Amino acid sequence: MKFPITIAPNFFSDTHKILKIANELDYVVDEPFYPGKKTIFLNHIDMGLFYHLSRKVLNLFFEIDDDIGKLQYNNVEWAFHKIKYDDIKDMRKGELFIHKDHPEHLTGLIYLSHNENLGTSFYLNEKTPSFHKMNGPICGLDKNISDEEMENLYKENNSGFKLMSEVRHIFNTAVIFPGCVPHKINLEDLRPGEERLTLHFLFREIGYYTFPYVRCKLEDL
Ligand SMILES: [Fe+2]
Repeated sequence: MKFPITIAPNFFSDTHKILKIANELDYVVDEPFYPGKKTIFLNHIDMGLFYHLSRKVLNLFFEIDDDIGKLQYNNVEWAFHKIKYDDIKDMRKGELFIHKDHPEHLTGLIYLSHNENLGTSFYLNEKTPSFHKMNGPICGLDKNISDEEMENLYKENNSGFKLMSEVRHIFNTAVIFPGCVPHKINLEDLRPGEERLTLHFLFREIGYYTFPYVRCKLEDL
């Protein structure tokens, strides 16, 4: 693990600007087994914005203009994501799966709507993760799986974790975490007429001479 789970409130100084950008874009990209729609990746829309956002996140962990470190990052994705009530109303209840992303990745999201009933939960592993915990569906929208099968899969998948923290979906808060931490999106309480807006990111490769959590571990007693 190279990074701690990080919560950064008041992430954008000017939320009108970021909301204006979010509202001018088209939400046309579907992701399998994940409700709602995303924009195309922001590097295909505005490279200046893409670099600004990437540096903004990395500034939390690195002196990014430091000559010694020569920070490098590649394979980075940024996209806005909207989930409406209609996107989840047919989702089978309680079927949001605890899962991990790729262990080497740094990922996260900035909450850009007021949905304090929603959020993201983080867990500790209490047993070795099964196949589904790494690669299974993230939610119960996969209609190829029967109700009974889904219930069993859900029980099997979501057992064996201890809840560590529930981050509430507070407007303009960034939640940043390494892909190795088990997590789950909390969407069950999205109500009719409500919409969840987030800005997602994923860094697949970050190269630097040291990392925050590695530095922390070096100071063991
Ligand atoms: Fe995830």
